[in-house]
This record gives sequence, C-alpha cells and structure tokens, in this order.
Amino acid sequence: MARLFFALWPNPDIQAELTESAKDTLHHSCRRVSDKNIHLTVAFLGDVGERVQSTLINKVGNIRASDIALNIDQQGWWRQPKICWVGPSRVPSALFRLNDAISQITQELKLPADNKPFKPHITLARKVNRPVKFDFKSIHWKVKEFCLIESITHPGEVEYKIIQQWPLTLE
Ligand code: 2AM
Repeated sequence: MARLFFALWPNPDIQAELTESAKDTLHHSCRRVSDKNIHLTVAFLGDVGERVQSTLINKVGNIRASDIALNIDQQGWWRQPKICWVGPSRVPSALFRLNDAISQITQELKLPADNKPFKPHITLARKVNRPVKFDFKSIHWKVKEFCLIESITHPGEVEYKIIQQWPLTLE
C-alpha cells in the first residue's frame, strides 16, 4: 500500500517564492511546510495497493490536458483543518478539467472518493490556530506537468516522493 495523491509540483524557485513573504509571520507556533514540500493537490487518493497503482498509472497516462496558467494571488486561513494557504482567486478551467479527468479514473477503479468540493490551495503551514496575514505579492506559475506523489511519513516529518509525472501538452 502507498498513500498517494496527484499534485502540481512547483520548481524550487517557485517553491521559494511562494513561501518567502509568509516566513516571518509563520515563524511562531505553527508547523511550516518546508519549501521542498510545497505543492498544489489536484486529487487526494489515500492508500492504494500495488496492482491498482499500476493500472492507475496506465490510465492516467492517457489523459490529454492543457497547461495551466496559475495566478497565485490570494491568501487564506481555514479554521478546519487549521491551515494557512495561498492560492488562485480565479481557478483556470484547465485545472478543473484535470481534476475531473483524474476523478473519473479513480471512480472507475473504485478508489475512495473525496467528496469535498475541489478548492485548489497551497498549504504553507499547519496547526495555525488563528487567522494570519502577510504581505503577499501575486506569483505567476505556468504549470506544464502534473505528478503522482507518494506521501511517506517519517518521525517528525513527511516526505513526498514523485512516483510519475506527465506533461500538460494539449494545445
Ligand atoms: P492540505 O495541504 O490541505 O492538507 C498530502 O497530504 C496532500 O493531500 C496535502 O496537500 C493535503 O491537503 C491533501 N489532502 C487532501 N485530502 C486529504 C486527506 N483526507 N488527508 C490528507 N491529505 C489530504
């Protein structure tokens, strides 16, 4: 079994840009996500067995999706699950279409469905007990691939391993 999710994974420069303005504010009393773990989840799957995983990878390889121009221009805090995040105020339809295409496959494979509405966001910190505000300038991120990620829990930290990535190449 592996704990899996699909994500858009920024390069290290964009990861650093996304966290920079929040660093001082999020310094205290919360758990900041380290730069190398910064990502935007497209679909969370949970535990998936090895055989289903390889079928999943084959099917997802047939998705034809366009690149996604994200303007990360919004910050927020959710009381539940106590996270501070940044994200796009306007979600490009290409991102919804990618989420739909993946959801269709996970339903075909009878993987547990995440019934929550898709609210694209990038978690900057967890265990944030109250709303936080920082001076955040919008960041343009042109996304040209999406990834299947395994989440591996180590004592005191989580490791995200890229299992596979696919280009977003549809014109
Ligand atoms: P979050 O950042 O809002 O917590 C890996 O855990 C990624 O999958 C995180 O980006 C997390 O979103 C997302 N995710 C979505 N649903 C989840 C769930 N039920 N359990 C854990 N992570 C989930």
